Amino acid sequence: MDVTVFSAKPYDRSFLDAAAGTAHRVTYLEAHLTPGTAVLADGADVVCAFVNDRVDAAVLTALQGLGVRLVALRSAGFNNVDLVAAKHLGITVARVPAYSPQAVAEHTVALMLSLNRGIHRAFARVREGNFALDGLLGFNMQGRSVGVIGTGRIGAAVVTILMGFGCDVLACDPHSNPTLVERGVRYMELPDLLSASDIVTLHCPLVPQTRHLIDTAAIAEMRRGAMLINTSRGAIIDTNAVIAGLKDGVIGHLGLDVYEEEAALFFEDLSDQVIQDDVFARLLTFPNVLITGHQGFFTREAMAAIAETTFANITAFAATGHALHEVSVDKA
Ligand code: NAI
Repeated sequence: MDVTVFSAKPYDRSFLDAAAGTAHRVTYLEAHLTPGTAVLADGADVVCAFVNDRVDAAVLTALQGLGVRLVALRSAGFNNVDLVAAKHLGITVARVPAYSPQAVAEHTVALMLSLNRGIHRAFARVREGNFALDGLLGFNMQGRSVGVIGTGRIGAAVVTILMGFGCDVLACDPHSNPTLVERGVRYMELPDLLSASDIVTLHCPLVPQTRHLIDTAAIAEMRRGAMLINTSRGAIIDTNAVIAGLKDGVIGHLGLDVYEEEAALFFEDLSDQVIQDDVFARLLTFPNVLITGHQGFFTREAMAAIAETTFANITAFAATGHALHEVSVDKA
């Protein structure tokens, strides 16, 4: 098949080339997929897209006009795809449902530990010859209550790590996991979890019901000084409400790997430019905020698994007309 890969970085290329083998002709484009760039897929059977590519109705209509039959996402999340339009246009959408939950789970806990012990501040201080400990006082993870919202693959992997620290793990998910319950996880409603947790960590998908799940009302339920971590999707939290929570001290630490408006920022080197997003710029001013640019998935193991599943989807689609891991409006 002819495959056009959008948002392709050199690091993507090496893993995708290894997985593609000789069965497919692959074209790599650095450009994001947008209504303006969709035309670059001319001649492709398959478009391979990533988290900040726009796979909306306008893009899908343009792709269908070019003869594209499959959109193969190199991600688990598919909130950037208009599945209704895809179904209507007869374009199959496939994703990589699970590649390495541990990659994201370990990054989540890295954010927790860094914020707790002020590693991001200590790094900068020590390089300046400042060995003072003021402002770096942390807390023991052992015995702390951690509320995990969404205990699917990544949430369950986070629970396993936290149990190793001796945390008291609380959870909220419409589908409780009996194995986690056996291991001592207590499921409860969201307001109860928020009011009982020292750390709240988000691992649910972004769907209409979870958009701005953490808003002003939810923050009002949280323990004063609690830590909030989001490595799932930016729009699960209302960023302006979280900024207000940070300013009045309800949120004591904030760790983000995702941001509502990240498409205009993340994955690019913008160090020579002035950031135009004032909300993001405000977040950067807090000493108790640590942001990474959507790198939770970025381990060798996860990149290899993403590339393999992506091409397994494409190869199955070429052979049978069906990808291995299809996502459709009927199943979503
Ligand atoms: P999953 O589908 O295995 O688990 C999601 C869980 O969330 C399910 O158990 C589901 O029942 C639960 N859920 C749904 N609605 C909920 C609600 N309103 N409240 C509480 N729980 C709810 O998904 P997985 O693989 O664990 O991934 C979770 C999310 O992590 C993805 O949707 C994606 O957005 C994000 N992600 C982030 C990455 C990164 O690099 N930062 C990489 C991969 C995924």
